[in-house]
Amino acid sequence: MFHLAWFLSWQVQSWNGTWSGEGGDEWNHPDLYVDMTKSLERAGFDYIMFEDGAFVPDSYGGNHDWWLARARSVPKQDPMQLLPILSQHTERLGLVGTMSTSFYPPYMAARTMATIDHLTHGRAGVNLVTSHNTRTAQNFGHEDIFEHDLRYDMADEWIELVKQLWGSWDADALVQDRARNVYVDGAKVRPIDFHGKWHSSRGPLNTLAPPQGNPVICQAGGSGPGRALAAKHCDTLLAQVESVEAMKEYRADVRARMVEAGRDPDSCKVLFIVSPVLGETQEDAEAKNERMLAGFKADISVNLANMSYASGVDFAQYDLDEPFPDLSGTNATRSSMVMMAENAKGMTLRQAAESNVRRSVDLVGTPDAVAAQMGEIVEEVGGDGFLISGNVNRRYIAEITDGLAPELRKRGLIRDGYTHEQFRDNLLEF
Ligand SMILES: Cc1cc2nc3c(=O)[nH]c(=O)nc-3n(C[C@H](O)[C@H](O)[C@H](O)COP(=O)(O)O)c2cc1C
Repeated sequence: MFHLAWFLSWQVQSWNGTWSGEGGDEWNHPDLYVDMTKSLERAGFDYIMFEDGAFVPDSYGGNHDWWLARARSVPKQDPMQLLPILSQHTERLGLVGTMSTSFYPPYMAARTMATIDHLTHGRAGVNLVTSHNTRTAQNFGHEDIFEHDLRYDMADEWIELVKQLWGSWDADALVQDRARNVYVDGAKVRPIDFHGKWHSSRGPLNTLAPPQGNPVICQAGGSGPGRALAAKHCDTLLAQVESVEAMKEYRADVRARMVEAGRDPDSCKVLFIVSPVLGETQEDAEAKNERMLAGFKADISVNLANMSYASGVDFAQYDLDEPFPDLSGTNATRSSMVMMAENAKGMTLRQAAESNVRRSVDLVGTPDAVAAQMGEIVEEVGGDGFLISGNVNRRYIAEITDGLAPELRKRGLIRDGYTHEQFRDNLLEF
């Protein structure tokens, strides 16, 4: 059996397509996501994960116009506020939002996540990112983003502190002894007096220990320091790679790092991004896939902008028919840049942009065929599962939750219901 999760942003989803519905008006309200999380839970997903970033991009074209016109990464809302609402309409699905370890004060982060874990009865998770964008840094009063490896160093200390705050109340601190008129036992609540290189906090936290102890921690950094951080702290890791071989290497590497860090490698689930393209027949799915690829190729500004987003390099400044530029000097995302540069070897910028369309293994076919393929991949890789990412509209959600998921379940590849009440218990069940 393997795990499924869904990756999206709380931003404008589909608004200008055949199946967008009222997407342009409803993206910033809960209903679409309430419908979606109910469907995901019916389908047996482990969690929904909302990525985030606190800036208006302007890395492509020298200003923010392209991004605003296309509604790409802006407008965007803080997913943490949405999670408790979604918990009111679901019972078991894990609910993950994103926080930046570079800019979120650790005490506030610990408090917010503890609060959400209480509100959701132990279904909260946090995707920890170090942030790779200069504009984010500037929004928080810095001139530039911290250096890549330093960001991970700071993140390690940040997580250590946050975990200590979560642990600053014993799980049995709440006694509610009416006879003695004692609500909380003071002996079971302690300051942490944390004085690190980057962060300090006295503590203790000012609420009860989160129901899960530590809310689920998720991470997606693919570089050496990113993987090391995940191996030390994470319950689930999100990875973007282009082949089954690379999936195998990635998972084996993270598991080896976990053993080195003294952890059981089965206690972190590595999920790989995929965007299945489903059809009534194989021909139908392939035709749909061809249409999608042709759409990307007809407007390479989307891929150029995506590349600018990940690298911080403005690809609008280059001649499209010159060789792909050297990216080695940037301080943004590392693993995606390595993948981008590998992919672009010997190509012009135009060729690279045209080929940089789907950076994951292809899953194209009927639900039955794709389910079989997913089973084979997990068998080959050794386990864990997939993170679905795709155009969020009700049609695509139904294709996955009511087309693909039943086929996966029929094969015994995904869960048929939830054994436990809390997120981590379900995640680590198999
Ligand atoms: C599935 C996935 C989700 C991510 N979510 C976010 C996010 O919400 N916010 C963010 O700033 N970066 C996000 N990133 C970027 C990562 O945090 C990280 O910067 C990137 O994978 C490069 O890591 P590296 O520099 O360690 O190679 C995501 C990456 C992946 C693959």
